[in-house]
Amino acid sequence: MRVLLSSDDLAAGIDRLSTEVRAVVGRRPLTVVGVLTGSIVLVADLIRRLEGPVQVSMVWASSYRGTATRPGELELRLDLLPDLTGRDVLLVDDIFDTGRTLEALLAELGRRGAASVRSLVLLAKEGRAEVATRPDFIGFDIPDEFVVGYGLDFDGAWRHLPYLAVLEEAEIAATRAAQDGVPDATEVAACRDADGRG
Ligand code: IMP
Ligand code: MG
Repeated sequence: MRVLLSSDDLAAGIDRLSTEVRAVVGRRPLTVVGVLTGSIVLVADLIRRLEGPVQVSMVWASSYRGTATRPGELELRLDLLPDLTGRDVLLVDDIFDTGRTLEALLAELGRRGAASVRSLVLLAKEGRAEVATRPDFIGFDIPDEFVVGYGLDFDGAWRHLPYLAVLEEAEIAATRAAQDGVPDATEVAACRDADGRG
């Protein structure tokens, strides 16, 4: 594993993000809607930096199954949301990859009578977007590599790391092989063929 952003880098990024958000929203009450599960660490740090009144709620989204590192079918759950009528809403997710999660959630939130809906992500992967929507606030642009830590997982592991690390292809292959006994090289090659990107 290779450290991409240290916990000091992340703290500085979140300081900057909170300042940018308040510069736009002012001191008005803000409803932060975090996306489970990857945004939990970010939400916890961000709300402690956002000065002024904040309400917190969570939705759930998932586009990965097990040891996949490319998104599959998107599943959403919004049943924990409070009434958003007239609220200034900030949707918060860990990472903007294809953008399909954020786009789908923004569409859902847009139907609920909020005064405004904006979006914030800690990370955006370069060259991966498949939608026209872009987040209003981005912490860091990162290369197209699979990252873990600071809330982000691979097959449920590594969310607890206080820094952000790149999971090398050999580590991904080793995890898969340990779980299902498929030889590393075959598994990685099959994954390449499936999405044509590698
Ligand atoms: P999108 O819908 O393709 O933008 O995917 C966004 C979601 O995929 C994020 O909320 C993450 O949960 C997950 N994701 C995308 N890239 C990574 C990664 O590099 N590491 C861990 N999770 C990722
Ligand atoms: Mg997520």
